[in-house]
Amino acid sequence: MTEVPSNQRKPDPCSFVIFGVTGDLTHRLVIPALYNLAATGLLPGKFCVVGVARKGTSNDDLRDSLMKGLREFATRPVDDAIAKRLLECVTSIAADPREPSSFDEMREQLEKLEAARATGGSRLFYLATPPGAFAPISRELGRTGMLQQKNDAWRRLVIEKPFGTDLASAKALNDELLKIVDEHQIYRIDHYLGKETVQNILVLRFANGMFEPIWNRNHIDHVQITVDEKLGVGHRGSFYDSTGALRDMVPNHLFQLLSLVAMEPPARFDAHTVRSEKAEVLAAIQPQRESDALVNSVRGQYQGGKIGDTVIEDYCKTGDVKPGSTTETYVALKLAIDNWRWAGVPFYLRTGKALGIKRTEVAIKFKQAPFTMFSCTPVEALAENYLVIGVEPTEGIALQFNTKVPGPSIRIDGVEMKFRYKDYFKAEPSTGYETLIYDCMIGDNILFQRADSVEAGWQAVQPFLDAWKKAGGKGLERYKAGSEGPAGAEELLKRDGRSWRKLG
Ligand code: BG6
Repeated sequence: MTEVPSNQRKPDPCSFVIFGVTGDLTHRLVIPALYNLAATGLLPGKFCVVGVARKGTSNDDLRDSLMKGLREFATRPVDDAIAKRLLECVTSIAADPREPSSFDEMREQLEKLEAARATGGSRLFYLATPPGAFAPISRELGRTGMLQQKNDAWRRLVIEKPFGTDLASAKALNDELLKIVDEHQIYRIDHYLGKETVQNILVLRFANGMFEPIWNRNHIDHVQITVDEKLGVGHRGSFYDSTGALRDMVPNHLFQLLSLVAMEPPARFDAHTVRSEKAEVLAAIQPQRESDALVNSVRGQYQGGKIGDTVIEDYCKTGDVKPGSTTETYVALKLAIDNWRWAGVPFYLRTGKALGIKRTEVAIKFKQAPFTMFSCTPVEALAENYLVIGVEPTEGIALQFNTKVPGPSIRIDGVEMKFRYKDYFKAEPSTGYETLIYDCMIGDNILFQRADSVEAGWQAVQPFLDAWKKAGGKGLERYKAGSEGPAGAEELLKRDGRSWRKLG
């Protein structure tokens, strides 16, 4: 077993300003991630955290609330001394974009604090707020000059998802932000890029010589990308009902997986080159005509059922969901990529809530042997050759191939060769945000979405959104909570003579 080496440098001094400090994301992920960075010595030596909320609280109340969150959500046992040191850096400030003067006051308070803590004026503004606040907050930060870079003091803006709700709104938000800051100051987060196994797709493909020669239409039959979740919508009814599975998961998380699997080899491992290749392949996703979009997509909504011992009620009975809602909680798509590498290779994507199994994986299905000389097993009966990149819950890589069953006669069976991260590496459990936050602080935006990628992602899903809007509830299938999803998802592959890989 290999110890994960820590050869990373401490980031330079800075202030970490969190908008939406009283919210769920801050308590559940941001503070636990900062704690993990503190515990591994990866926070700046001179550092302050500024918690911004529309209504201010006292420093003590804010610190108590963050401590409570940390005890609940920390991924490792909390060392009181480390937690105390981190929370002592926290100051509460009130600012509301509807009251511009509060941003002028905030600026003064921030400058005083930075002088007292000797952080040098570099700032990271983390927008952990509902999406409607991204533009108004950025505008006020711009107006008050808080985002203006000076000498050695950098200023960065971290934006959470969802980035827009369709192509037009994503473009509008990009336009708005780019009037205030330069592209290189914006860090659009997609938490999938904080996952080790997702980052490892690049290493698997480009640090090994053996995969790339067969990573194309000559050898790959198709690609399946699955993000199946067991949880229902829970208390997020209001957000989810106006969002749905497609917007919530596809242009961001599933397309991150798709772009890493399908991109061309970057000439250099730097943010510009890697992000350009990713944007390029997303832009090559074949545009769908409205009628094709309906044929190449499946929408489902869960009905009540049981997952293990948990009873899940009908999606439509979830709090804050409109009765009779036609929002999809499951989506499956068939996409094509128009370039020489992938012409004719379908990419099947599926994701849904309240399913029987939690599983995130990319399965690359290789073409069958062209003929087999083993008369006992015709080609069609051979096990399928898959390379499976497991993201969750099993992190690892598996290769499925055919082998001879021991014995005097030739009998063939499918077997699996498995690599599991946990067998090789000792890594502390993490929130997945540590690398992302650390990279924001050191100014490495390789793992963040660039404006063109975000827009290319929305461009590819827009025809589905448009076609579904016109079709209304027609075509929305129901599936039972705890099942494998709507029957139409199986059909989508069956009509191409294919099937989804069995999960589990
Ligand atoms: C979020 C979505 O971005 O990702 C959620 O809003 C979803 O609906 C979650 O559950 C999935 O993330 P993960 O890391 O659990 O696969």
